Amino acid sequence: MSNKNLQQQLLERIETGLKDLHFPDHPQTLYEPYRYVLSVGGKRIRPMLTLLANGLCGGDLNDALPAALSVEILHNFTLVHDDIMDSADTRRGEPSVFKKWNENIAILSGDVMFADAYRQLSYYGTNESYSKEEFAAVHSVFSKAIVTVCEGQALDMEFVDRTDVNHNEYLEMIAGKTAALLSGALELGAISAHASSEKRKELAELGYEMGIAFQIQDDLLDATADPEKFGKRPGGDIFEGKKTYLTILALERANAEQSSLIQETLNAENPAPEHVDEVLGIMSDLDVLDDVAAEIDQHYKKAFQLLNKFESSDYKQELEKLLIFLQNRDH
Ligand code: IPE
Ligand code: IPE
Ligand code: MG
Ligand code: MG
Ligand code: MG
Repeated sequence: MSNKNLQQQLLERIETGLKDLHFPDHPQTLYEPYRYVLSVGGKRIRPMLTLLANGLCGGDLNDALPAALSVEILHNFTLVHDDIMDSADTRRGEPSVFKKWNENIAILSGDVMFADAYRQLSYYGTNESYSKEEFAAVHSVFSKAIVTVCEGQALDMEFVDRTDVNHNEYLEMIAGKTAALLSGALELGAISAHASSEKRKELAELGYEMGIAFQIQDDLLDATADPEKFGKRPGGDIFEGKKTYLTILALERANAEQSSLIQETLNAENPAPEHVDEVLGIMSDLDVLDDVAAEIDQHYKKAFQLLNKFESSDYKQELEKLLIFLQNRDH
């Protein structure tokens, strides 16, 4: 089997699994947004990680699919609610759910997705090959990831009103809002393959490094990506006054005049687009963009090192390819 085929095959399993989820037609305002969110696409990185971790640990892919679907549904739920919190009108190049419908509909359809994500996990309680401990581990890894995502999202919002957020606080925030789910996705894949606790830990750590790199990169793309490809509002984080790795570095390096322009733009209710452009210009002048890119590479490097502990296999090669793809992503 060529690697290209393996990747296609795994993606097909994910897409088919998502399409096969059964939604009632009624109430329409509950299920239509759910269907919409899953149909608009996305990179499907998290379910891919679950399947790859399962393969990497010598498991049966059929056993990883419920966990893979569960993490993708959960991820989509977080996006539906995140877009409300971030007042983000577009997602994946299409209107976000609260914009297409309204906030109440987005809250409630998000809630049903959250419950549905959990429902997928009952597979590990009814399939006899899983011990009680493994079923409990599935639940505890999944619940821990969700709680940590919520903590990260809370910090993300708290930081909007602060001017003194430091590097470590930022890291704690993104470890929560983003790395926790990537890490959980890999660990669940390992559990679905009955992997040892040592392998589980290694994969969880790999997911952490990948997740940190992934979110810093999301911050960078938010400021620099082609909006057509990225599918989100350009400079959206600056408009929302978010504390990203970019703004933290920029504020550390800015002179008094630059610093007040950055602060004013971040604090403004509706910053003028030319001020947002000026902030981006300052970031570039202060070498912030290059140094952020170097930081991203450092974390990917750690992820590659952790992956190298695993024996050679098609799955290892595929995960390596995914890491390379992510490192070079533009969306
Ligand atoms: C977006 O995640 C949310 C972040 C953690 C930055 P993705 O970039 O994986 O979103 P999709 O699913 O591919 O749209
Ligand atoms: C993503 O943070 C975290 C979650 C959705 C949990 P962002 O707010 O940066 O994600 P995007 O940029 O909207 O995708
Ligand atoms: Mg957010
Ligand atoms: Mg957002
Ligand atoms: Mg973002």
